[in-house]
Amino acid sequence: MICIPITDKTEREAILTLERSAAAADAVELRMDLIENGRLEKLMAAARRASGRVKIIVTCRRKEEATLIAGDHHCLTRKKEISKATKMTLFRQAVLLKADFIDMELAHGENEIRKLRAFCRKQKSETQIIVSWHDLDKTPSLKRLKEIFQASVDAGADIVKIVPLARCMEDNLKILSLITYARQQGRKIIAMCMGEQGQISRMMAPLWGSYLCFAVLPGGKKSAPGQLTVRTMREFRHLLHDNRCAVQPWLLPPGSPNFVLLGNPVHHSLSPLMHNKALEAMGINGHYSAFCVTDLARAISGIRGMNIRGASVTIPFKTDVMQYLDEIDPDAAALGAVNTIVNQRGRLAGYNTDWSGLMQAIREKISIAGNRFVILGAGGAARAAVYGIQKEGGHPVVVNRTPEKGRALAELLDCPFHPFTELDRLSAPVLINTTSVGLYPQVNRSPVPAGMLANYALVVDVIYNPLKTKLLQDAEAQGCKIISGLEMFVRQGAGQLKLWTGREAPLTLMKKTVRERLETLEN
Ligand code: ATR
Repeated sequence: MICIPITDKTEREAILTLERSAAAADAVELRMDLIENGRLEKLMAAARRASGRVKIIVTCRRKEEATLIAGDHHCLTRKKEISKATKMTLFRQAVLLKADFIDMELAHGENEIRKLRAFCRKQKSETQIIVSWHDLDKTPSLKRLKEIFQASVDAGADIVKIVPLARCMEDNLKILSLITYARQQGRKIIAMCMGEQGQISRMMAPLWGSYLCFAVLPGGKKSAPGQLTVRTMREFRHLLHDNRCAVQPWLLPPGSPNFVLLGNPVHHSLSPLMHNKALEAMGINGHYSAFCVTDLARAISGIRGMNIRGASVTIPFKTDVMQYLDEIDPDAAALGAVNTIVNQRGRLAGYNTDWSGLMQAIREKISIAGNRFVILGAGGAARAAVYGIQKEGGHPVVVNRTPEKGRALAELLDCPFHPFTELDRLSAPVLINTTSVGLYPQVNRSPVPAGMLANYALVVDVIYNPLKTKLLQDAEAQGCKIISGLEMFVRQGAGQLKLWTGREAPLTLMKKTVRERLETLEN
């Protein structure tokens, strides 16, 4: 069931929203705490007029909750707290008016819940009581969630509702486990996570067995952070239904995939912006979200369990992630790093598009085969550069600040090594910086003295923030051609989209999108 919460400030507005919502949803939730001076009988009559089949939930939340939800920029507040006694009167009225459900918080007290149950029995009412519990700050442990579930059942819930805030992707998995736990006991449960990190659970909870999910009308006010529009939820459900795969979510049709970024930290990542823009332009009805991962093994279970179609993997997980995958592409295996996961019906395959993205960017300016490349650095990016250049018939030379690390990489991939102190003696058609020198906020630093750049025709920087590093500015001043890290970044992203969808990504649009965002950040 898809339920639209009615959160308007006045009874008149609420009735207008009800008229639109009753037709679009299976249920409406009358937020009596928010509809100031809303008369229950009027509102219920309006809902029933709009649709003979829409279910009605009557809810009256505590003030603290409504205020906290304003953190999602949807200011849902009311003037004063409604007393417990007034709420009980309202709920009894809802029973008499034959509301389908009444939502009562567990915090309201077991006694009050029992009293309402007794009243329902006396009236021979079919109204069901949803006992709800929210945590607007975090998702507690699964053990604690089960305790809350049990307390709600003991208090007399017909349906238990548990909605905490997700702080990371793994929190969604606790909800999945909780729903399974409730279903094993033959109990009805409504469970999902709030917040950006919890959106995936809003999509998937009905599949997992949550009794209903909440959505808003396009442009409508959210009653909890992370709510999706009713259209998104419906399209998602139709896609599942049409393909008869509700119990096997990995059979999701090509139109509704979800993608994630796994890393820590991820809040500065431009991948969600770039990928969502690309997905939209490609006409793919999917969504890409960033997840800050603290437990990689659980995050990978999440990809399988929630049928995420594809994932990007970033720092610090590119190597660690390999142990959890079912197969690794030979290039990624040789590099010892995976930046892309493709979910092939539950089998997870790892790829690396970092090296190929860099090679594509270079190939557009200069032929790689037969040319010499000086590579600054000895970390993962340097390894990707050396590997790609060798694979394409070029000759890499490693230069690194710490000789032991540089020598180790050079020995591993069988190429020459020079310490930084010898840089003035080197020259080549191409210099590639893979160190972090010059990365925002240290934008006035460069790993190479400007005068030495005359030894190269093309200078490449893997850094894309800033768009033009000090190194690239100096290189241009010396008459070199340059390639910014943006070129590599968008190509590794396009490579991921190709692996996930089998289609060419809109590279120009992706580049424009990321460049514009970076320019905004720079100003
Ligand atoms: P990545 O995996 O992104 O390549 P990394 O493994 O942290 O990142 O590697 C960063 C590279 O930048 C290293 O080679 C590092 O040199 P050291 O091996 O000497 O640590 C290099 N680097 C970082 N800061 C540097 C600096 N100030 N000057 C020179 N090289 C630097």
